[in-house]
Amino acid sequence: MIYSIVKFGDPVLEIPAAEVTSFDDGLKKLVEDMFESMYAARGVGLAAPQIGISKRIAVVDVTFKEDPDARLVLINPVIISKEGRQRSSEGCLSIPEFREDVTRAKTVTLRAQDLTGKFFEHTGEDLLARAFLHETDHLNGKLYISHVSALKRDLIKRKIKKLVKAGEW
Ligand code: NI
Repeated sequence: MIYSIVKFGDPVLEIPAAEVTSFDDGLKKLVEDMFESMYAARGVGLAAPQIGISKRIAVVDVTFKEDPDARLVLINPVIISKEGRQRSSEGCLSIPEFREDVTRAKTVTLRAQDLTGKFFEHTGEDLLARAFLHETDHLNGKLYISHVSALKRDLIKRKIKKLVKAGEW
């Protein structure tokens, strides 16, 4: 099932999501749907709040279907280390048509649970490190625009307000 993506302005995007405690078939199905929804929206990462479900689940595939091994399911992810710096353009399916340069750590390690509840650690670099930070931010109710200057953020919000008014958001 393909979910529609919740856009900026919906409060679900700005509240911390709830811990996952039940690792059942429902979770498995939800994660499958999240991959399907992410690919349909042409994204490389998706957090559950972006489909209106306030739970600590994210899916990532920075290769966009190229490498099946690159499909990552992150349940209750926590960033445990960050190193270095990278700066490049970042966007979000919940803030379509906008992109801004964001400085992030270059290497990021997180700890998360898989679909069975088993804990694992994974280290990502460059785009994967960025995705780890971007998606865990989502689960904490934080959007990438909180990492850009107040000036740029206000400009984006003003433009979105206009789009909302025009019925185009
Ligand atoms: Ni996003």
